Amino acid sequence: MYLLNASGCLDALTAPEVARSLDAFVTKTVTPEPRGGNEPVRIAETEFGMLNAIGLANPGRDVFVAETLPRLRSLGVPLWVSVGGFSAEEYAATCAVLEDVTIELNLSCPNVDEAPESAAEIVRMCREATAGPLFAKVSPHSWDMGETARAIEAAGADGLSMVNTLRGVALDVALRPALARGAGGYSGPALRPVALAAVMAARRATDLPIVAMGGVETGRHALELIACGATYVALGTVLFADPDAPTRVRGELDRELTAHGFESPEDAFCAALKSVASLENSRKR
Ligand SMILES: Cc1cc2nc3c(=O)[nH]c(=O)nc-3n(C[C@H](O)[C@H](O)[C@H](O)COP(=O)(O)O)c2cc1C
Repeated sequence: MYLLNASGCLDALTAPEVARSLDAFVTKTVTPEPRGGNEPVRIAETEFGMLNAIGLANPGRDVFVAETLPRLRSLGVPLWVSVGGFSAEEYAATCAVLEDVTIELNLSCPNVDEAPESAAEIVRMCREATAGPLFAKVSPHSWDMGETARAIEAAGADGLSMVNTLRGVALDVALRPALARGAGGYSGPALRPVALAAVMAARRATDLPIVAMGGVETGRHALELIACGATYVALGTVLFADPDAPTRVRGELDRELTAHGFESPEDAFCAALKSVASLENSRKR
């Protein structure tokens, strides 16, 4: 199985061995200008997942390309660079200076309208700016994932990544928001059914490769995403608690595949979707 980390959930330069246990490393989102990120508190635990409001802290495009990227290349792991911005032009300008990497457009940045047309507009401009592999990462807040997926495909993306975090709030005992900003991105186990639904809807709308993520902690979770139509799987929040998760999840997935009579992840691809389709067909009869 092609296994990646979710953007922002692994620092490959401080944990190179974890990065090398993946098939590719995905960077934290890079924006044109440097960003210090939000005031603390930026992370809070909740009952079923984690809230974060990091605020896209990153050194900015120029420092990233000149200093961070060469160090990442020396790790010997294929690289995906997550690109963010506040307008389609900003995204495209970063895409234009990146070479020999897969680009993942973070279309869930704050202040970027997530309507299908605007996501598609960003992808269209980035497609003109680069001939390299271009993935679009979408928000689970999308009101119609099938339509979003079709619009992104028509705009020229080579693949989809899903899902980013859901917006959430946690309160402390005194009823104050646990995060300084109030709301943050909700990740972890609670996202699993959301991710399965998003992948299923996108898979029914398009044949594009899909990088699936959202609360994956075990091989069983990865298998479920593959059964709903994921081509690749990414690990996010789990990496904070268990840096050995990539190796463990691979082993668990192999055992799950065998237990279900599948010889490879490709055999399990869309297995859940097929049974939904047959249910619909039997209803029509
Ligand atoms: C601390 C933290 C930072 C994140 N930073 C980014 C980011 O910079 N860019 C991005 O596209 N997604 C970011 N994400 C979202 C993850 O890449 C992923 O889409 C999300 O957490 C769902 O997967 P998970 O439930 O396995 O964590 C971040 C998530 C967390 C928890």
